[in-house]
Amino acid sequence: MRSLINFNLPDISHEDCVYLSEALRLGKSSGNGEFTQRVEQLLQTLLGNSRVLLTTSCTHALEMSALLAQIKPGDEVLVPSYTFVSTASAFAMFGARPVFVDSRSDTLNVDSSLIESAITPRTRAICVVHYGGVACEMEEILSIAGKHNLLVIEDNAHGLFAKYKGRYLGTFGAMATQSFHETKNITCGEGGALVVNDGSLVDRAEILREKGTNRTKFLRGQVDKYTWVDIGSSWVLSDLLAAILWGQLQRAEEINARRVMIWNRYYAQLSGWAHQHGVQLPVVPEGCEHVGHLYHMRFKAAEQRSRFIDHMKSRHISCVFHYQPLHASPVGQQFGGRIGQCPIAEHAGDCLVRLPIYNTLTDDDQSRVIEAVQQFRP
Ligand SMILES: Cc1ncc(COP(=O)(O)O)c(C=O)c1O
Repeated sequence: MRSLINFNLPDISHEDCVYLSEALRLGKSSGNGEFTQRVEQLLQTLLGNSRVLLTTSCTHALEMSALLAQIKPGDEVLVPSYTFVSTASAFAMFGARPVFVDSRSDTLNVDSSLIESAITPRTRAICVVHYGGVACEMEEILSIAGKHNLLVIEDNAHGLFAKYKGRYLGTFGAMATQSFHETKNITCGEGGALVVNDGSLVDRAEILREKGTNRTKFLRGQVDKYTWVDIGSSWVLSDLLAAILWGQLQRAEEINARRVMIWNRYYAQLSGWAHQHGVQLPVVPEGCEHVGHLYHMRFKAAEQRSRFIDHMKSRHISCVFHYQPLHASPVGQQFGGRIGQCPIAEHAGDCLVRLPIYNTLTDDDQSRVIEAVQQFRP
């Protein structure tokens, strides 16, 4: 029997574990240690001196962004319907109503032409998602936000080091969030980061992450004791996980380059088959440089996708669908979402499938995936 080709395989290597051993030797397993500082400093330098705060997850970074945006009951926050639940729940948690906006049919990013009509006097912020690390139209989104005095938050869970017009994603909005979950290109198992681009939010961000105390200032020697100064929670990443992240970041270029190579090969070798059978392959508009985070295809009908997943499974290849549109979910409907409201998101929810992609996927295994896809008749 042929071995199983997983959909995803996190690659925490021996080198990463050397840093983990080093963190253990230093005896600092809680947060804010040597490796947290190294990782934050490195990301800050790469992202153009924004303040980067490592967090326990991207979800927690999104919750911090909601607090920093001073979201309160009655506010509205625009979010794409086609996203992970955290993009909306982080704001709903503080009383906001998520207002769901449909996606562009090519990139599946929020359709910026639908944003303005979704804005009301209650709208406070727009949270965009760069799906698969392919950038949203940031200039247009920032211009709409500026006109209506709205905060822009980038949920960049998929796109660390991806670029839009030569500039890193996560550096456009007032804030951005990153994920280091095991499904992401760069991982420490569970982890995230808040990128604070608006300097006026940095002090409070540090306080929120440290349970509402000014402990970060204390650790920098800026105050002689720390105390409770605001609300907050326990969102500091363990230094052990930061050490793994440090290892991963040393290999980030290599990891991303390999993933992009796999992505390009899928694209080149599946185009003919896709064209022949009316299957939609991912689109990367001009100006967008992605990092090979995911490779997706969309069938015309849900039934074709189910048959495809079974077909691949019978060949020991794991292919998976992605988001269920939030506007149509039970909670989304409580917030006013209704079936039919976001047709592109609904179609992607029913018909999109993702192929295996990870940096340790071998050429031979990728050939097996490609052959199996080409044998499928939608
Ligand atoms: C777009 C998006 N935002 C947020 C998250 C949540 O990330 P985390 O698991 O780090 O909280 C995910 C998870 O995959 C995601 O896809």
